[in-house]
Amino acid sequence: MPNSKINNPINISENEWEQMILNSSSSFDKAYAPYSNFKVGAAGITSTGLMIQGCNVENASYGLTVCAERNCIAQAVINHDESEKLVLNALVVFTKETKLTPPCGACRQVIAEFFEPSAVIMAANHLGNQKQWSVSQLLPDAFSPNDLLDK
Ligand code: THU
Repeated sequence: MPNSKINNPINISENEWEQMILNSSSSFDKAYAPYSNFKVGAAGITSTGLMIQGCNVENASYGLTVCAERNCIAQAVINHDESEKLVLNALVVFTKETKLTPPCGACRQVIAEFFEPSAVIMAANHLGNQKQWSVSQLLPDAFSPNDLLDK
């Protein structure tokens, strides 16, 4: 369950955090991870309130594996109202590990594409443990769409 210490610069409600944690847990159950046996679920919310989910999907050709976070962001790309710029406001990464799972480096770069630097990413587990970071903590000085504007 989310606690009152959650840093909340983009104003995610307690209910929304709770819903994202529940959604990330049900995404976890759907993960396809027969090679690593390391299942990951993710869930997020866009600036328009759209809830999205993803899980890791592995492949016999191991390098083709896609992480839960990137599949979750792909769901936002597919499902959001394309008349508006896609902005994601928060994302939860859920595992059943006692050590909470942070986003990998590749996912941090993809997160930086769609989230404000002040947006919050949370790791959560089945024990109710939580840790959170801002996007800029996860990837300081990210190469972002803005870097392409002056070309
Ligand atoms: N994985 C994720 O889905 N997200 C992360 O942030 C870390 C790693 C997946 C990839 C692979 O299927 C498994 O976890 C083990 O690396």
